[in-house]
Amino acid sequence: MKIGFIGLGKLGMPCAEAIADKGHYVTGFDVAQVSSDKINVVSSIRDCIKDTDIVFIAVPTPHNKQYDGRGPTAHLPPKDFNYDIVKDCLIKANEHMYPNQLLVLISTVLPGTTRREFAPLVTNTQFVYNPYLIAMGSVSWDMINPEMVMIGTEDGSLTGDAKKLVDFYKTVMENNPRYEIGTWDECECIKVFYNTFISAKIGLVNMIQDVAMKQGNINVDVVTDALAKSTMRIMGPQYMKAGMGDGGACHPRDNIALRYLAHELDLGYDLFDSIMNAREIQAKNLALELVRYAEENNMNIFIHGKAYKPNVEYCDGSYSLLIGHYCNELGYPPTYIDPLTGDNIEACYGVVLLAHNKKVTYEYRGFEETQTLYCKIEKGSIVIDPWRTFISNEHLVIHYGNTRI
Ligand SMILES: NC(=O)c1ccc[n+]([C@@H]2O[C@H](COP(=O)([O-])OP(=O)(O)OC[C@H]3O[C@@H](n4cnc5c(N)ncnc54)[C@H](O)[C@@H]3O)[C@@H](O)[C@H]2O)c1
Repeated sequence: MKIGFIGLGKLGMPCAEAIADKGHYVTGFDVAQVSSDKINVVSSIRDCIKDTDIVFIAVPTPHNKQYDGRGPTAHLPPKDFNYDIVKDCLIKANEHMYPNQLLVLISTVLPGTTRREFAPLVTNTQFVYNPYLIAMGSVSWDMINPEMVMIGTEDGSLTGDAKKLVDFYKTVMENNPRYEIGTWDECECIKVFYNTFISAKIGLVNMIQDVAMKQGNINVDVVTDALAKSTMRIMGPQYMKAGMGDGGACHPRDNIALRYLAHELDLGYDLFDSIMNAREIQAKNLALELVRYAEENNMNIFIHGKAYKPNVEYCDGSYSLLIGHYCNELGYPPTYIDPLTGDNIEACYGVVLLAHNKKVTYEYRGFEETQTLYCKIEKGSIVIDPWRTFISNEHLVIHYGNTRI
């Protein structure tokens, strides 16, 4: 195929050359003086695009120098990437492109940016967002052996544009990667949260190192090796389904105790302050949603599941109770429904939060448990499902966390 590459920097050049190595004819353009014996470097975007099938854009989305992490950045005001260069390239590319071509943006951007800022600029050709998970030092290898390929389209479907890119990558990739097709916005999320998951993981692991240094009698590797082998809950897909918050007699209290330890050892930071704070505000956000529906429809609120998880009667650290606390504060005291805590009712009509989901909670054991309803939910009720599994045509069902149209 004929491929164009706009932006031949640390990412663009090795990727363009890796594609050329696979037998495609690659034309590249960069504002800087660059050269390559594998691709044809030209002096304008127009020449770069001419007669191509697919054009990739890998130009910078920079922050000011002071944000690069070389020195402290945490005290600086939070800042979005700068999109001026991407926009400029999109406008210029759009001028010269046709409907049968495909424009592919690789540069890293925040969720929402493509739809809000870029899509309106691309009117003449097909357009997808395709961020790369690539690390310096192994760019060419990473490009053809990626963990996954993210392809974002306007509506998240495998439209002609996404399919064209998948077919192209099949001629380039060496590891038969997984293709994740989503909306532009979902792929923007996958990319930035992938990176920040790594940052969060490293931050936690290095906290254990700090605890070892301050506490004594601890080799951090003994601790992290044990955690790294913990594939039942930590190193695996468990706890990767968004829903209700962390609960129970242990988890919230362990975090609180670790906050104390961080202060006692004078670590100088308190990761668990943020985690506990987020847990509470997330509960309040869910309560606000319940109250909004209750207010708009003049209904009462019911919380289906009071114990901290299904199949137990314990209410210590129950996230249902925390959400109920905020509903109370907002003037909408909820009614709980849970056979194991003695909160039995035959039927309810109102805004119903499906807090319990046995399948999600217990699926790590390798066999399925189905969540049956603890009471009849009357027709016309509004069911809010934070696990996004409940389906019914007798109720208005809100899958909390899914805002796809
Ligand atoms: N480097 C990586 O490992 C990596 C990995 C994943 C994503 N990304 C993302 O890819 C994008 C590019 O990153 P990079 O590391 O290659 O940056 P870079 O600064 O090394 O390269 C960008 C290139 O674009 C060129 N350029 C600037 N303005 C241009 C214009 N108007 N027209 C054409 N070319 C222009 C620059 O001269 C430079 O050669 C960024 O959004 C980055 O976040 C980078």
